[in-house]
Parts: sequence; C-alpha cells; structure tokens
Amino acid sequence: MKKINSIEQYQSQYEKSVENPESFWAEKAENFNWIKKWDKVLEWEFNTPKIEWFIGGQLNITENCLDRHLESRGNQTAILWEPNDPTEQAIEITYNELHNRVCSFANVLKRNGAKKGDRICLYMPMTPELAIATLACARIGAIHSVVFAGFSARSLEDRIKDATCNIIVTADGGYRGAKTIELKTIVDKALETCPSIKKSIVLKRTGGEVNMKTGRDVWLHEELNQVDNICPAEKMNSEDELFVLYTSGSTGKPKGVVHTCGGYMVYAEYSFRNVFQYQEGDIYWCTADIGWITGHTYIVYGPLLAGATTVMFEGVPTYPDAGRFWEICDKHNVNLFYTAPTAIRALQARGNQFVNPYSLSSLRVLGSVGEPINEEAWHWYNDKIGKGNCPIVDTWWQTETGGIMISPLAGITALKPSYATLPLPGIQPCLVDSDGNEIEGNDVQGNLCIKFPWPSMIRTTYGDHDRCKQVYFSTYKGKYFTGDGCRRDEDGYYRITGRVDDVINVSGHRFGTAEIEAAIDEHENVVETAVVGFPHDIKGQGIYAYAICHSQPTDMDTFIKEVNKTVIEFIGPIAKPDKILIVSGLPKTRSGKIMRRILRKIAEGDVSNLGDTSTLLDPSVVEEIKTSAGLG
Ligand code: PRX
Repeated sequence: MKKINSIEQYQSQYEKSVENPESFWAEKAENFNWIKKWDKVLEWEFNTPKIEWFIGGQLNITENCLDRHLESRGNQTAILWEPNDPTEQAIEITYNELHNRVCSFANVLKRNGAKKGDRICLYMPMTPELAIATLACARIGAIHSVVFAGFSARSLEDRIKDATCNIIVTADGGYRGAKTIELKTIVDKALETCPSIKKSIVLKRTGGEVNMKTGRDVWLHEELNQVDNICPAEKMNSEDELFVLYTSGSTGKPKGVVHTCGGYMVYAEYSFRNVFQYQEGDIYWCTADIGWITGHTYIVYGPLLAGATTVMFEGVPTYPDAGRFWEICDKHNVNLFYTAPTAIRALQARGNQFVNPYSLSSLRVLGSVGEPINEEAWHWYNDKIGKGNCPIVDTWWQTETGGIMISPLAGITALKPSYATLPLPGIQPCLVDSDGNEIEGNDVQGNLCIKFPWPSMIRTTYGDHDRCKQVYFSTYKGKYFTGDGCRRDEDGYYRITGRVDDVINVSGHRFGTAEIEAAIDEHENVVETAVVGFPHDIKGQGIYAYAICHSQPTDMDTFIKEVNKTVIEFIGPIAKPDKILIVSGLPKTRSGKIMRRILRKIAEGDVSNLGDTSTLLDPSVVEEIKTSAGLG
C-alpha cells in the first residue's frame, strides 16, 4: 500500500477523506484480500449507535496478516522475541513459521471445543505464544479477550464472566524483571467461580509447580503434538466481532470494548504505515503489552498486516538495568521505536549513564502513546534517544478508537513538543463547550469529540449496547465523546490536556476512580473513600485516596499495607494508591455528590483557590481535610 509522503499529500488526502469518506476508505480497503468484496462501504448513525463498515464483505484478518505475505516474504522475520532474561536466546519467527504455528494453535483451540463466535480469554505473559494465540482465535473466528497478566484473580474473573468465555489460555507463570508471576495459580482462583470456562490451555514457561485439574486443564505442548498445522481461515463478515478488550470508565466495572473484523483491519494497517512511515525491511518495536490496545493494534495486527518485523519484549525497561531498552534497540537494529511517556520519564530519572553506552544509530522514528508527554520528557527522548534526528510521533488514541487518531506523520508533519498535532485522514475531531456547542476556529479549548465514523471505532460494549450509547454518544448528541479535554492552537494543532471525566491515567493505564474506591472500601476498617488523580513526576498521575475509617488505625504503616493488599486483590498492583489520607468526612454537595474538584486541589497541594464551596453540605469538612493534609 502506498503511504503519504509529503505534507501537501497529507492535506489533499485529508480533504478527500472528508469530502468523500466512502471512496477514500474503499480505496484503502482494496489493498487487502477479501473473500468477498463489500457491497456498501458505510452505514451509520450515532444515536443508537449503529456503525457498519464494508458491509457484505467477507475476510479473515489472519489471511491478511499471514497467508498474503507467504509468497513474497515467507522467510522474513515476522516476530522477533526478546526474553526477559538477556542471557536467554532471542527468537526469530518467520512469516512461514508464524503461519504454521497459528494454524496449529487454532487446531488446538478447535480440539478443545472452540467454535466461531466463542469468547476465549488470554491471560498470558509476553511470549510469542500470546501473539500466536491471539491470531489463532481470529483464524477460527473466535473472539479474543486478552486480559493483561498484571490484573488480579478478581479482575480476571469479572472479565471472564462478563464475556462468558468458555476457554482460557494461560501459562504456568511469567517473568517480569526479577519477579516470577504465578499466573496459573491466579487463574485457578478466578476459575473457582467461572463455570463458563470448560478448558484451560496452559503454556509451560517457568516450569514452576502448578495444579492441573483433570478434564479442564491441558498443557499446550502436549496438545500441539496432537494436531497438524493446516487450518483454513474461517470466513468472517466485516462486522463480525474480532475482539473484546476491557477498559475502565468513570462509572461501574470495566467495560468490554468491541472491535470488528473489516474496519479494524483496514485502519490498523493504514495508521501503522502512515504514522510510523514504515519502510519495507524496517525493524519495529512497540514496548507495550498485548494486554492493552496498543499491543493489539501496534504489536500484532498493524505491523503484521503491513508485513513488518515486529519486536515483542517479555520484560520490563529497568531489568537488569535501566539501559535494557537501548541495549535491545542496538542488539536488534530497531528502526521504529514506540513507547509510553511514563517509561521515558522513569528511564530519564535513572540518569544518562544508562543510555551513553549505546549507539542507537539504527533508530529513525520514535513514538509516544498513552498519556500526555511533558516537554521535559519530550526533549530528553528527542535529544538523548533520537540524537535530534528522529521525529517523535506523539500519538493520541484510545481503546475505543482502535487505532491512532491524532498524530504527526513521521518526518512529514512539523512537530511541536507535547502536541499530538493533526488528525489522520478520515478523522474528524471537534471541540465542544459544556453546552455541546461546537467551538470553531483556532486558539481554543474544549472537550474533544469526533463527529464522523472511522473504520476501527468501537461498535458496542460487550453485552450492553445501551452502555456504549450512554458513555460515548449521549453527552453530545450526534458525536462520539472521547472523555478528553483538548486545546487547538493558533496553527490548528491539537494538544490533549487530559481526562475531563472521573478517569485517571496512571503510567498510561486507565482507571475509573469509582473502581479504585470500591476496592479500597473492601478493607474492613474503611467506611467510604474518594479517589482523585494528582500530578506525579514519573507516572503522569498518581492515585490519592481520602478514606473515612470506622476507627483511627493504630499503626498507619500497617493500615497502608493492608489497603494496598486489598487493592492488589481486587484490581492489581498497578492500582495501588500513592497516598492515603484518613479524613473524618468528604466534601459532599447537598445531593450527596463528592466535590472532587476540591479533593484534586488538595492532592495537588494547592489550596489557594478552592472555588465556591457554598453548595457543600458541610463546608467545615474542607478545613479539616486541609489540616490533615498538612495544608491548613
Ligand atoms: O486520556 C487519553 C490518554 O489515554 C486515554 C486512552 O487510554 P487507553 O484507552 O488505555 O488507550 C491508551 C493507548 C492508546 C485517552 O483518552 N492518551 C492516550 N494517548 C495520549 C493520551 N493523552 C495525551 N496524549 C497522548 N498521546
């Protein structure tokens, strides 16, 4: 597929995509193998909402990721896997091998009862088998639900139940830096209350002791001995579900964002190729975990659709030391590198001595995703890692958008630190004020919405279409609401300012404040909690919890440890609060709503202007909290 190669071409493509979206996207879709071509490109309305792309078309995304490339690049590396332990051998899997392994895995799934339309949960470490399992589901038309392997048994259980998965694929354990995570034990706990799961397929990774339940649990390597590697791709309609991926919102439990086969495929490839300006032969590395949307679209689907070599890393940026990323870049001659601001800030904080030993001369493009990148981190990334030679693509998007929405095209769009810059062709962002009026012109700020569909947008929230409508399409009629605040500057460049709802972004991971509050409330001494985000040097946002207790804890350290344990049990270690303050009351309005604005200010340590507190039921609470926080 040809890619955009100048700013003039970007502009003309953008105009074309707005004037005639259907012919624009039809042209992009022509580049794929369709079992049956579509009858109609698009039907939509944002009230129900109903969004359908490439209607009547039939395809299998794995034929486009794998089979389509075999003739031209069968022996090229598709996945280059770097293990957690740098002394363990890296593994190169060619397109031919990947095709065979996906087909074999698909046959293992079938042998264990999987059928088209089933939901299959993947709870795995970042080994090649996770990418293979993902593709194997897609091969047979099963819907994958990848759950990040850092989530707790409770979170896993909730996700399995919500999607009524009938199979889970997991591992005995996983390595993350110096730690070994006992995944199978976590799965066993979750499955105690998940009767829908009939089979658990277990990868042997660590060799640790595990319980295998007869009739339910099988070893992957034994199963693979029982199957061949021939598995025709299931014929899927464009709008058949490809995957569900859980993400947090302002209220309730995490919801399953549903993406479908045709549109997602077209947009994943198009955005990958254009944003990173992928060139044939490039080595591309995205450091995300496949448990998040970034891993789905830009480790697995986008790069493989484009026929790239995609690097998969099992470990963490600081193991064995803070030079690991840069060591891997040199070792594998990485050309395109995509990571998160939180990792950049953490590595910057460890000092340049971890970067200096490496040449980093293969790098051509750097990417950033997941949260706003502050200017200091941007400049360090640009100067120390990119040596001033690599454009940084600050990519704004969401689980719900499926692919990158606002971003520079590497080397084409003029950059401005901390700006995601311009929308990709086909993306029509707009800013709205609190009354829902669109704010025209430049040098303005508002809530970010998208007013026209794009191929990889969310179709529904699993099992609850009304929730999808309420969360994304009801705040501003006729528009998709992102939940983000945004500025459009005098050049028409977009800068994301952060969430405007009760979602906090901790190290690029999304949590609803309500979700963390519910977890903390499980502690027996806690009556009620209010959680807010506050600026954090490394994580972007930290978690600040205000807790009302039945009785004042005798030992604060023990109390904090216990609360952390509760949060780890209900969500996972990534949601542990950074600060816990015991308070006697919370600032509530007469209707019982917590005024988080005030709590955010106190968490920031800025109590100079707390705004209007006259609507509070008991304004004196604020003084008390200020005093407890040492700001009185
Ligand atoms: O607030 C925005 C922030 O991350 C949110 C989406 O989170 P999630 O669905 O987990 O997906 C993360 C990876 C795509 C957004 O609503 N966000 C993501 N990228 C950026 C960002 N904020 C600022 N700049 C970005 N580049």
